[in-house]
Amino acid sequence: QTGAITLDIGFVNTGSCTSKITFLDGEKGILRYRGYPIEQLAESSNFAEVSYLLYNGELPTAAQLEAFNKDIAASSKLPGGVEKIIDQFPGSAHPMGVLAAAISSLSGFYPEFLNPEATEEIKNKAITQMMGQVKVMMAQFYRKTMGKSPLASNAKLDYSSDFLNLMFDGEVDKDVADALDTLLILHADHEQNCSASTVRVVGSSHANVFASIAAGVTALWGQLHGGANQAVLEMLEEIRKDGGDYQKFIEKAKDKEDPFRLMGFGHRVYKNFDPRAKIIKKACDTILEKLDIQDPLLDIAKGLEEVALKDEYFVKRNLYPNVDFYSGIIYKALGIPTNMFTAMFVLGRLPGWLSQWKELREDGARISRPRQVYMGETERDYTPVIKR
Ligand code: SDX
Repeated sequence: QTGAITLDIGFVNTGSCTSKITFLDGEKGILRYRGYPIEQLAESSNFAEVSYLLYNGELPTAAQLEAFNKDIAASSKLPGGVEKIIDQFPGSAHPMGVLAAAISSLSGFYPEFLNPEATEEIKNKAITQMMGQVKVMMAQFYRKTMGKSPLASNAKLDYSSDFLNLMFDGEVDKDVADALDTLLILHADHEQNCSASTVRVVGSSHANVFASIAAGVTALWGQLHGGANQAVLEMLEEIRKDGGDYQKFIEKAKDKEDPFRLMGFGHRVYKNFDPRAKIIKKACDTILEKLDIQDPLLDIAKGLEEVALKDEYFVKRNLYPNVDFYSGIIYKALGIPTNMFTAMFVLGRLPGWLSQWKELREDGARISRPRQVYMGETERDYTPVIKR
């Protein structure tokens, strides 16, 4: 059919696929992981448990969760060669480039993962090994930029507390760890977003899991995707320096001649409030109060949101704050440097990417090969250069 795009079983070549992991309703602002509402998981679960749920399809028993955490702890160290690769990067490098390289380099140290078949052993190891090693990679590079040597993981700590322990010296504040854990839960998966689709496209060729995840990291880096959380903070800072004139930035965002967009606003799917943004906005107030932090950027963010949500341009286009609009304010309060915000998104999204990679392989999905609507020249004959 001219112009029509046919459905193709498996990886539906209209750029969508079948999955049992995450359900989104963009009109109603609903998000569920394996059927559990995100609000309940954010309130009552923890990141390790949610990661287990996404990957295995069911909430773990106490014994299963204990074993899962033990395996993550046992993997929370890097081969010396990977530590050296991270160390070779200049401190000015963006953490997303370091992570993409370091994750891909794991293929050189774990040849068993290069088996094109996603065996049970690979699938069982992938989630705990990568959740353990990625947090160590991030902390090692951060400490290098601070002129400090890496710290060792502490198996007695929960996932988020251990990450903070790896990043910063000294006692881990429970409120800080809990706030981080909630953020990681909220970022854990999100259906067929740009980076998850990238993981699936690469995984569908039977490239190894490290290559698939490294590809997801590079897709997430973009400012229109995971890079938005860093861009939001930079935008809020610019508004603050400019005297807090929201309207000026809103007019800029509406100007089609100007490439500037209101970072942290809008979404491919949500045409209503992003349920994660609502939870994070509330968490901002709680954690800043607990830590006794007055951050003028939070007031600017709230003011910007209030003005934008009344502006006809945004209302007509159903543009609401998304997951990235408030998350940076919390990361900043937790002491995470701005250039690591998107790497924090990787830490959160890792179990979702791995769950989708595993599902794709278990479903025996065919290689991703989207088709196109050709808009180029019709057939024509070659002309020798002397005639051109
Ligand atoms: C994430 O997909 C996912 O699930 C992603 C994610 C996940 O968890 O994985 O949710 C995480 O990536 C969230 C999005 C983070 N990115 C940003 O905050 C960057 C700013 N947002 C925009 O760049 C934009 O909203 C996108 C990229 C998110 C979506 O881009 P689209 O699909 O082009 O937006 P659209 O089709 O809904 O746009 C409709 C209209 C267009 O204008 P018109 O052509 O109708 O005149 O709204 C405009 C857009 O230009 N528009 C904006 C805008 N977002 C859309 N105008 C100003 N500022 C914005 N932020």
